[in-house]
Amino acid sequence: MPSSSVFVFIVLCVSFLVNNAASVDYGAALTKSLLFFEGQRSGILPPDQRVKWRGNSGLQDGQDARIDLVGGYYDAGDNLKLGFPMAFTITMLSWSTLEFRDKLQNNNELSNALSAIKWGTDYFLKAHPRPDTLYGEVGDADSDHECWERPEDMTTPRGAYQINDENPGSDLAAETAAALAAASLVFRPVDPKYAARMLVHAMQLFDFAINNEGLYHNSIPPAQKVYSSSGYKDEFLWAAAWLFRATKLTKYLDYMAGSDTGGVRTVFSWDDKYIGVQILAAKLVLEGDAEPSGIWVEYKGNAEQFICSCAQKSSQNVKKTPGGLLWFLPWNNNQYVSTAAFAMSAYSKYLSENQANFMCTGANVGPSDLTSIVRSQVDYILGSNPKNMSYMVGYGTNYPQQIHHRGASIVSINEDNAPVTCKGGYDSWFNKNAPNPNVLDGAVVSPDINDDYQDSRSNFQQAEPTTVTSAPLVGVLAFLA
Ligand SMILES: *[C@@H]1O[C@H](CO)[C@@H](O)[C@H](O)[C@H]1NC(C)=O
Repeated sequence: MPSSSVFVFIVLCVSFLVNNAASVDYGAALTKSLLFFEGQRSGILPPDQRVKWRGNSGLQDGQDARIDLVGGYYDAGDNLKLGFPMAFTITMLSWSTLEFRDKLQNNNELSNALSAIKWGTDYFLKAHPRPDTLYGEVGDADSDHECWERPEDMTTPRGAYQINDENPGSDLAAETAAALAAASLVFRPVDPKYAARMLVHAMQLFDFAINNEGLYHNSIPPAQKVYSSSGYKDEFLWAAAWLFRATKLTKYLDYMAGSDTGGVRTVFSWDDKYIGVQILAAKLVLEGDAEPSGIWVEYKGNAEQFICSCAQKSSQNVKKTPGGLLWFLPWNNNQYVSTAAFAMSAYSKYLSENQANFMCTGANVGPSDLTSIVRSQVDYILGSNPKNMSYMVGYGTNYPQQIHHRGASIVSINEDNAPVTCKGGYDSWFNKNAPNPNVLDGAVVSPDINDDYQDSRSNFQQAEPTTVTSAPLVGVLAFLA
C-alpha cells in the first residue's frame, strides 16, 4: 500500500472507532427492551422463547378461585402478578407499537412487540370472565417478599384477588379497558378477530368501572402495599381516550369533554395517567377531531406545560441531576424518565405530522427540540453519564451486575433444578456478593439524584427493574432507532 493510502486507512479506522465509541445503538437497546418482557413471563413458555434461562412457572395460578389465571407478567423483581401496573404496561406497549409500528418493523421487532402485548392481553381476557368481574392480583407482597425464590419453584401462596359488582375497582377496570382498547388498535391489521374480542372486553370494563365507583386497593387489600392508587378519574379519561380512538363513538369523546383535564401534572406514571390523556387530547386537536377551544385547548395546554417543564423552558422546570437526567422522584426515577420521554416522542411525531409547534415561556418548541431532549435522556440511560454506566442490563460493557431480581439472581432452573427454598434463596443467592448468574437483558434500573448507583441487590429503590419502566421505552427506542 502506498503511504498515502495507509494514512487514509488509518484515519478511517480511527474515525470508525471514535464514532463507534460515541454513537448509541438504539436498535440494539430496542431488541433488549423487548427481551426484558420475555424474562418477566409467567406461565407456560412458548417454543420460540428466546430468554432460555427462564422456565414455566405459576402453573396453578387461579386454582383457588377455580379459574385459569396462568400467564401474564411478573411486575418487577418479585413473583407477583399485579393487574394494575400490568395493564398500564400493556397500554404503553400498545401505544408504543401503534405510533412507531414502521420503525419496529424496520428493526425487525414488530413481531416481538406484538408477542409482548399478547402475553398480557391473553391474560387479561382470562382474568375477565364476566362483565363485572376482573381478577387483579395473584400472590401477595407479604408472603412473596419473605422469600427469595425463582418463579419456577415458588412455594408462596398464590391467592387470586378480584373486583366485582360488590367490590369495586374503577382504576383497575378502566386501566384494563385502556390496555385492551389500545391493544385492539394494534392487532386490528394483523388479527381482526382478536382485536374485536379485546374491544368488547374493553367496553364492558369501562362500563363496569364507571358504574361501580371505588378504588381497587380497597377491594384487593394486598395491592395497597405495592401499587396503591391515588384516584380513578384519570383512568376513566384514559380509558375513554383509548376507546374513542378504537371505536370513534362520540360517547367517549363526550366523556372527555365533560370531565376536568387534571391540570398541569408533574409525573406520568402507572398511578397518574393525566399526561397521557392530555397528549391524546392534544392529538385530537392537532388533527381536527376536537374543537380548538374550551376544554380541548386546556388539555393541550396542560400537556405542553408538562413538556415545557421537561425541556427546561418553563417557570417550574423538572429538576435534573448534575449529569443531566430528568429527576422526578427518588424511587425508580427512570420509570418517570421513560414515560416523559415517551410523551415527548409521541408529541414530536404528532407535531411533525401536523407541521405544528408550540410556545413555552419565551420560546417556540418544535418536533426536533423534543427529539433532542428524548435522545439526551436515552443516551444518559445507555451510558452517557458520569459513571459511564449503562442502566439497561445487557447493553454496552458496563452495566449493573446485581439487580434486585429473584429470577436473575438465582442459578437457572435449566442448569440446576434442585429447588431453592424460601429462605435458602436469601442465604445462597441474595446475600452473595457476585454478579447475577442470569443477565436479564433490557432490565432498566435507576441512578440516584447525584448520578450515583450502588450495584447491590439490597438497593431495591434503585436496583429493581419493572415492566412499567420498560414498556414506554420500547416506543422511545423505536422512535430513535
Ligand atoms: C467516563 O468516560 C470518560 C471518557 O472516556 C472519562 O474521561 C471518565 O473518566 C470516565 N468516568 C468514569 C467514572 O469512569
